[in-house]
Amino acid sequence: MVEAASTEGEVDGGKRGKKSLSVKPISLDEIDNLKIQRETTNIDEFDRVLGGGIVPHSVVLIGGEPGVGKSTLLMEVAGILAKNGRKVLYYSGEESGVQIKVRANRLGVHSPNIHLLTMGTLEDLESGAEHLKPDYLIIDSIQTLYSEKGPAISGSISSLRYVTSRVVELAKNNDITVFIIGHINKEGQIAGPKTLEHMVDAVLYFQGELKTDLRILRAEKNRFGSVDEIGIFQMTHSGLTSISDPSLLFLQHRQVSESGISIFPALNGMRSILIEIQALVTDSPFVGNPRRIAVGFDPYRMSMLISIIEKKLKLPFYKSDVFLNITGGMNLREPAGDLSIISALVTSYKNIDVPKDFIIIGEVGLTGEVRPVTFIENRIKEAVRQGFTKFILPASQSDIKMADNISIIPVGNLYEFYGKLKSK
Ligand SMILES: Nc1ncnc2c1ncn2[C@@H]1O[C@H](COP(=O)(O)OP(=O)(O)OP(=O)(O)O)[C@@H](O)[C@H]1O
Ligand SMILES: [Mg+2]
Repeated sequence: MVEAASTEGEVDGGKRGKKSLSVKPISLDEIDNLKIQRETTNIDEFDRVLGGGIVPHSVVLIGGEPGVGKSTLLMEVAGILAKNGRKVLYYSGEESGVQIKVRANRLGVHSPNIHLLTMGTLEDLESGAEHLKPDYLIIDSIQTLYSEKGPAISGSISSLRYVTSRVVELAKNNDITVFIIGHINKEGQIAGPKTLEHMVDAVLYFQGELKTDLRILRAEKNRFGSVDEIGIFQMTHSGLTSISDPSLLFLQHRQVSESGISIFPALNGMRSILIEIQALVTDSPFVGNPRRIAVGFDPYRMSMLISIIEKKLKLPFYKSDVFLNITGGMNLREPAGDLSIISALVTSYKNIDVPKDFIIIGEVGLTGEVRPVTFIENRIKEAVRQGFTKFILPASQSDIKMADNISIIPVGNLYEFYGKLKSK
């Protein structure tokens, strides 16, 4: 028998073409099963999105549009960490020391533990970190950091990747926890773009309508926690305030019944938040090519739900422009919201007023059947807490008994649902 020759790409202990006995894989059992000691910041919404606090020596990328409050958030975090006795190195390639100090003063952040480095190169940052030996490093922003040794064009994708990989190396070799701020472009990706995401442990996006003071922090990737959690803040003169009862914020407590509106208890992690869905369905001037616009909702899923409406309820939506909006800058990504979306669309189209104390929950299948949803108890509990008493639920989950004063209307399919809507 002839022994197979070693080929390119064959794993032979670290070095290609040579046999080496120096690399010994270790068994999973040999690794200490120590619980990760997270550092909490007491900014509840921030800790929540990270999965319950900061994981030591992790590298977290925070993206957001200009002016949304990235520097504000991280300066507040720096302030708390510094108060906890941690040494923080804050690199800013965008603002002068004075500008940063003015912001820190406004936020009430004063500490000798925060050290600034402005407008330097990556090499300056490395030498600064070596000198200071910080516990935390904040880079504001990665797009402004360039290396004397890296690719020539600073801000290019290759430069960005090079700088980020060196920062990750710096963090891992020196046990530093790093927050990297990244600007996002119009398409909502961290400029540079998705290429940075796999290099770091967590990617958070900070979002919000700049005209309102509401800000939402959401995890896009997290090696140490769920990506379902969101953190909700209000931007004030003295900084960001965590909002612990977000349902109140998204609900406009309406006095009258209206068409085209549904209230849906969405799940974010284990927390249910009531969100408002608004739909506007109007005659389209564009025959054969009506407008379909969805904000905060997947447009493909909206098209699918419209097709189900057309097929099962025989409503000619192809003649209508459809606009769908999840208010307050929220996103609805759960199929459990299908029936609520359909309700908003159909009631707008038919001008049916939905009673203001109605909650509609259910996933809708392609054949029009209303399917059960996950964590229905959490959703109902939150809605009851906010004063809602009438629930349209999937028939298979309608035996749920949560409180005495609630009434449940079971529906098995879309046709049945439409009948119940019209009889309200
Ligand atoms: N004096 C102030 N009072 C109230 N809010 C303020 C004040 N100064 C700034 N802000 C708020 O802070 C926001 C800017 O925050 P910040 O500088 O942290 O944003 P950023 O995301 O870091 O922006 P950039 O992308 O320009 O670096 C403003 O849009 C505004 O909402
Ligand atoms: Mg900034």
